[in-house]
Amino acid sequence: MADIVQTEFDAYRDSYVDTVEQSISFSGLSHGFFQQSKALMIRDLLAMRLADRPEPSLLDVGCGVGALHPLLSGLFGSIHGVDISGQSIERAKQDNPGNLYDAYDGKRLPFADNSFDMALSICVMHHVPVEQWTGFMAELARVVSPGGMVCLVEHNPANPGTRISVARCPFDADAVLLGPRKMRGYMRRAGLAEVATRNFVFFPTNRPAFRALERRLHWLPLGAQYAAIGRAR
Ligand SMILES: C[S@@+](CC[C@H](N)C(=O)[O-])C[C@H]1O[C@@H](n2cnc3c(N)ncnc32)[C@H](O)[C@@H]1O
Repeated sequence: MADIVQTEFDAYRDSYVDTVEQSISFSGLSHGFFQQSKALMIRDLLAMRLADRPEPSLLDVGCGVGALHPLLSGLFGSIHGVDISGQSIERAKQDNPGNLYDAYDGKRLPFADNSFDMALSICVMHHVPVEQWTGFMAELARVVSPGGMVCLVEHNPANPGTRISVARCPFDADAVLLGPRKMRGYMRRAGLAEVATRNFVFFPTNRPAFRALERRLHWLPLGAQYAAIGRAR
């Protein structure tokens, strides 16, 4: 199964962003808007959960072509991306020469325990075979140092717009979406503490007034996406 996913995303090395754009075009929103929403959410999470680590190291698991990484500039001391798609990793290297990237087998992350301040994984878990979800989460928890943060961003299956875009996206044909509650269960069973979810992308804009309102609505499980957060022990 992992080989099928790998081959599939290799084919999107040069068309990943355009393919996402086509899937969400019905909403009138751009891939850039969603990327900015994620970067703003990550900035909030760093302030809330990792303020004591001034230049945190980031591992982005399933980073794809690294499209988000330019928007994270200045937030992290270092960014290391890994993915099972070797072609996506080659593209990420080409576009982000200041970061580190590696392809891996999707099972065992090629890092020692406690190597990073934060592990991030955005819209990846729904591509991982369900029987590997427990191991996938355990690996994210393993490579983060005690007190550090694990964060997964996922599509919210309860949001109708999200369901439409997933149905329109060719590389989501095999996607198995999981909601915030199930996600929290996987995080707790991986030994993570202070597990929480924050919902976001409620509005079609990131203007400051709407962002402020969105922060207050984080508990409402109706945004297009959610971030699931846990603290490594
Ligand atoms: C929808 S893309 C998301 C890419 C990137 N995180 C983003 O938000 O732009 C899903 C990515 O997950 C990768 N992937 C799938 N299974 C994986 C696994 N077990 N470990 C790491 N990456 C995986 C795919 O190769 C693909 O690049």
